[in-house]
Amino acid sequence: MSGLFPAICYESMGGGYTSPPSSTPSLALSFPTPMDIHILDALARGGFEEVLAFTDRKSGLRAFLAIHDTSRGPAFGGMRRWAYRTENEALRDVMRLGRAMTHKCVLLGLPCGGGKLVLLDDPQMDRAAAYRHIGTVVERMSGRYYTGPDVGTGAEELGWTAENTSFVTRPGPEGPGQLAEATAEGVFAGIASALRHRDGEEDWKSRTVVVQGLGAVGALLCKRLLSVGAKVSGVDVDAERADLVGHELDMQVLDASSEYDAVCDVFAPCALGGILHDLSIPRLRCQVVAGAANNVLTKPIHGDLLHGRGILYAPDFVINSGALVRGATFHLEGHRESVEAIGARIGGTLDRILDAAREEQRPPARYAFDEAEQLIAKGREAVKN
Ligand code: NAI
Repeated sequence: MSGLFPAICYESMGGGYTSPPSSTPSLALSFPTPMDIHILDALARGGFEEVLAFTDRKSGLRAFLAIHDTSRGPAFGGMRRWAYRTENEALRDVMRLGRAMTHKCVLLGLPCGGGKLVLLDDPQMDRAAAYRHIGTVVERMSGRYYTGPDVGTGAEELGWTAENTSFVTRPGPEGPGQLAEATAEGVFAGIASALRHRDGEEDWKSRTVVVQGLGAVGALLCKRLLSVGAKVSGVDVDAERADLVGHELDMQVLDASSEYDAVCDVFAPCALGGILHDLSIPRLRCQVVAGAANNVLTKPIHGDLLHGRGILYAPDFVINSGALVRGATFHLEGHRESVEAIGARIGGTLDRILDAAREEQRPPARYAFDEAEQLIAKGREAVKN
């Protein structure tokens, strides 16, 4: 996923972080402001078990590891390497992402919880040594946390990490199988579920889908949609990539940014998070939003806005869980989950969530978030007793 700008948005975490990071860190250091994170309060509010900050002098590594929940089993979550502007920004990101991983696990009924690791990228950092060091840190946790790929961490980095730990999900023959393929299949199943929920049938041949982001997941999603006869067009800010995928799949490529105005059945964001907000939502001319990108809604209220406009939003933290399902079942149950099984699991979960949300007349993202929080609380209660 190299080159991908990560999805950083500042959602409320249990009443916590609603402000963007300080653009004047030195000032923030001298004069504490409400934007500063009080780490223990933040852990308690977001329900985190622990956050580990660690450095390695030799490699120049600086990193945070957040373990959100292990009441059902070990924490799963990849490593994100990004040039964060401040430590606060990195801390917010690792906590936000770690908590979202727990939401995915509980909703999908996986015997694990959420965690995340972020590295504060620096051109001076010795990448190989840094990831090897992370391997020793993960190994010391003795299986409490399993790591894997994310933005800035691909096969090479995972290989370095794996030199020092077995608690890592590797793409390729030693690992659980292709992760992007699993994610794309989950999103495809999510789109199918949303269409059935809305119109009673998928009726692929009459559907138009616009896919934003033609990277690893987006391109595979286009291919899958084309295979069932949907009319698909795509867009990517990387014009070369867009042309390549458009040519290979023989599909239409749109001009960057025109995707928001395109009349279609489904808009599938598979690039960045934080793309749906006050300005972009009024432009949408689709019936369903369902894609792979994490945290597509800039704030929870934007899910309500979509709902108010009659657009069905399939929560990203339900339908983009294919890679997690594949990684967790490989490590914890010892088998490689097929794409069909992954699609059935994710599609079935979304069917249930959409029905329940309709029953309660609530936006699906709100319903899914609340259900996830209740399941987490239940799991913790069970451990206590
Ligand atoms: P990728 O890095 O392979 O592809 C992303 C593509 O989006 C790139 O081609 C990039 O040029 C394009 N892009 C960036 N900004 C854009 C914009 N504003 N408009 C149009 N295109 C834009 O990433 P990948 O692996 O395909 O993941 C896509 C999204 O899904 C990411 O947000 C990722 O966090 C999320 N995701 C991916 C999973 C996986 O298994 N790879 C698992 C769960 C979530």
